Amino acid sequence: MRIAPESPLAPVARGGSITLWVDGQPVVAYAGETLAAALLAAGRRALYRPAGYGEPIRPHGVYCGMGVCFECLVWVEQPRRAETDAPAQDGAGAWLRACVTPAEDGMRVRTRADLPGA
Ligand code: FES
Repeated sequence: MRIAPESPLAPVARGGSITLWVDGQPVVAYAGETLAAALLAAGRRALYRPAGYGEPIRPHGVYCGMGVCFECLVWVEQPRRAETDAPAQDGAGAWLRACVTPAEDGMRVRTRADLPGA
């Protein structure tokens, strides 16, 4: 979670400002934050809608916040592979858990929260 500078929990070393692109819109985040922290701070609580659970399909979002429930899946274009730190091939992407994925400057993320029936 993001901690406000005036919080009694401060001082927290905050990384520099970075910009993510979420569903084509810029989202300002800070280096060291997870995607979930950045998305929640930007007011984006709905991250995807699972298919096959009947109607109405309610959007899912961050639930456990620690990588267990998979409720926070987002599509990340060209994620870096941890073992090589090299970008994946052009056009590639992966469903990643927002709560355990570090935000990176220029990262392109897609949610499925706005897709009807997705
Ligand atoms: S919120 Fe549970 S895995 Fe991300």
